[in-house]
Amino acid sequence: MRSSILESLHLSLLFLLLSSSFPVAISRSRSSLKIGDSISVGKESEFLISPDNSFTCGFYSLGTNANWFGIWFANTGARHTVVWTANRNRPVNVKGSKATLRRDGTMVLTDVDEAIVWQTNTVSTDVAAAELLDSGNLVLKNPLGEILWQSFDFPTDTLLPTQLLTKNTRLTSALSMDNCGSGYFNLYYGSDNVLRLISDSPDTSTIYWPNPDLSTYSNGRTNYNSSRIAVLDRKGRFLSSDLLQFNASDMGYGIKRRLTIDYDGNLRVYSLDNSTSLWAITWQALIQPCNVKSICGRNSICVYSPEIKCTCPPGFKVKDPSDWNSGCKAMFDETLLNSEKVKFLEIHHTDFYGFDLNWTPLLTFETCRDTCVKDYRCQAFSYRLLGNGYCYTKSALLNGYTSPDFPGSIYIKIPASVDPSKPDIFNPSSSNCALTAAEILVGSPSMYDFNSKRVRWAYVYSFAAALGVIEATFVLIGWWFLFRKHGVPASVEAGYQMISSQFRRYSYSEIKKATGNFKEELGRGGSGVVYRGVLSDERVVAVKRLGDAYQAQEEYFAEISTLGKINHMNLVRIWGFCSDRRHRLLVYEYIDNLSLDKHIFGGGSHLGWKQRYAVAVGTAKGLAYLHHECLEWVIHCDVKPENILLDSDFQPKIADFGLANLSQREGPGSEFTRVRGTKGYMAPEWALNHPITAKVDVFGYGVVILEMVRGLRLYDWVAEDGDGDEAAVANFCRKTKERMNNGDSAWVEGVVDSRLEGRFSRNQAAALILTGVCCVEEDRNKRPTMASVVQTLLECEDEDEHEA
Ligand SMILES: *[C@@H]1O[C@H](CO)[C@@H](O)[C@H](O)[C@H]1NC(C)=O
Ligand SMILES: *[C@@H]1O[C@H](CO)[C@@H](O)[C@H](O)[C@H]1NC(C)=O
Ligand SMILES: *[C@@H]1O[C@H](CO)[C@@H](O)[C@H](O)[C@H]1NC(C)=O
Repeated sequence: MRSSILESLHLSLLFLLLSSSFPVAISRSRSSLKIGDSISVGKESEFLISPDNSFTCGFYSLGTNANWFGIWFANTGARHTVVWTANRNRPVNVKGSKATLRRDGTMVLTDVDEAIVWQTNTVSTDVAAAELLDSGNLVLKNPLGEILWQSFDFPTDTLLPTQLLTKNTRLTSALSMDNCGSGYFNLYYGSDNVLRLISDSPDTSTIYWPNPDLSTYSNGRTNYNSSRIAVLDRKGRFLSSDLLQFNASDMGYGIKRRLTIDYDGNLRVYSLDNSTSLWAITWQALIQPCNVKSICGRNSICVYSPEIKCTCPPGFKVKDPSDWNSGCKAMFDETLLNSEKVKFLEIHHTDFYGFDLNWTPLLTFETCRDTCVKDYRCQAFSYRLLGNGYCYTKSALLNGYTSPDFPGSIYIKIPASVDPSKPDIFNPSSSNCALTAAEILVGSPSMYDFNSKRVRWAYVYSFAAALGVIEATFVLIGWWFLFRKHGVPASVEAGYQMISSQFRRYSYSEIKKATGNFKEELGRGGSGVVYRGVLSDERVVAVKRLGDAYQAQEEYFAEISTLGKINHMNLVRIWGFCSDRRHRLLVYEYIDNLSLDKHIFGGGSHLGWKQRYAVAVGTAKGLAYLHHECLEWVIHCDVKPENILLDSDFQPKIADFGLANLSQREGPGSEFTRVRGTKGYMAPEWALNHPITAKVDVFGYGVVILEMVRGLRLYDWVAEDGDGDEAAVANFCRKTKERMNNGDSAWVEGVVDSRLEGRFSRNQAAALILTGVCCVEEDRNKRPTMASVVQTLLECEDEDEHEA
């Protein structure tokens, strides 16, 4: 009795499932139209369906009062994945529109007023039927079954497997997620037989793939084959006559794929995940999305962090906050540029691509700058330090982008009387950040002027830009939300997550299995015990079990999601987390080498000078990244050699960041002081009960670099002179400063770790000692920011290169 009830339940469930996933198949399944037949808009049942049920052809809407006639993947979630559209730029009315196979042999799309919106070029041919094939191709056939017209010859933004891309066809991106009309980005064969991506916006026309800075040959292409033909085969392999070849990462038969030029300008292969019905990105042309150079409008700069954003340089503000592509406008009177003195804003790792007035190699920075000063057309110049220096003067600020691998800086011309350090674009609601920026601006040494040296503060801006932290200071917050709203479609997002962040939640049993029931302990600290583990995909990880956390779930998730977004080469990457009843765990990448203390205080092998300096620079970069992530300020609170791990190349990776807030926090900040921090590395304000700012990390960092120079714990070192408490450190600082000011270079040499046997750079040693001493100032306001430390140390890094 029971089993029969269950059975009937099963049956009805099965029926429900079938009817919900194939409503169309049940109502009226057909794969072809005969002469005289038509498909009407708005009627659920009127579609063509390919014989194997993979594709549907009919009318679709994008949430607006408009319909398009096209082909999409059947059964792929709520949102259609459209692969072809007949009338991209001319949507039809949601009532009364029709697609008809006429007796004259044409297929026509008519609007409610019978106006022809689109038609095939098959007048007076003997067309007998229209048919949707399993490949997603809509074809018109004659009575013999020969194809007279096919949608594959008129692609929109997508190429399906087996569909040929030829010299007569191109893929053109959609305008946005809500508008499938033609956008600005194109994939096609150029007259030189090379398959490329080009952006054709109202303002510019720019080739951005393959890398326009390299020759065809260096890009692995050839001009010689003029057949100009390409195909993505069923296995997921793309072959083009210009020798471009790539494979989808999930190469193999039986997977649904498509090659699409997205409206962000990137070209991607998507594969459908059977189990989730989501599209995963299995190949993409540009790894750095900002390399789609024209993605942001005039005067604006593309930043990836880790989503694309358009930002305005200092002195500029966004033109139209509702349209992220509209660019920025100057907040100063541009005619002043011709009538008075000018100065330049320096932004690192940033370029406005193209629009060069002139391009000159072997030019000194000063000559380049003067050229731009004298030429009224010059709005900026780009200077690259490759070999002897390349100078590009710019007539327009278009195609702005920031990319960590861009080997140069842009210098934007502004009137000397304009002070962009106090732009009113600072949003009052992010006052914290504005303060930070102001501090940097004021605290930095020299402003760049026509007559004097560079604007130093600009470094900070660029540093932030390169790392994508700039949003809070220079982007209107609303803009960001707007872009998010219009943002990348859900399917793209899902794919991004798979490829780029890989941050996910793990179940407790997964972690238990990975760590062999927490067998191998790697270490323990204030925030918890760390275990070694191996995930099911064979990644080796370090799992940190947090001490009993009494935090509310939402708060914990908020902190965790912040951590998940942090991604910098000098910070230990966090892969995911686990929250299962009382268990709170974090899953980190596993770092090969030991922590810094083992390498500098250990009796055995020790780090050479170059490595020590690199560790100092890398650690500073990592901390600067944490501190300037303005919206989500992260103070480490426990900077010490034990928390600086070295990878196999001896690059530093800071561990244990972001835990200050995750640890127990009963009263407002009360436990804080006791939970975090380690004696010897704790700034005096811990003891004084002053508010804790990022400057506590600067203090810890100062101690670390002094210890790296000396090869001794600071407390053991200063104890040589006195008794070894905070007062001794202050005393030591004062004396050291005096010696440095007096140019006591012999003393510097005496300080450096004797195990190096004199093999070190004097300049760098002096820079490290001086920086270290400034960082451990008792008065936190006198300590530099991490960003300015990075800048100071990088300058010496350069010096070293020049000497060599
Ligand atoms: C040109 O490319 C096509 C397609 O990849 C190929 O079949 C053909 O052999 C090539 N021709 C030459 C001369 O290499
Ligand atoms: C793609 O896979 C094929 C094997 O099927 C291999 O020969 C080829 O080198 C791969 N191409 C690339 C670019 O990895
Ligand atoms: C995905 O589903 C299709 C049909 O639904 C099937 O033919 C194919 O083998 C499946 N692919 C994988 C990888 O499971």
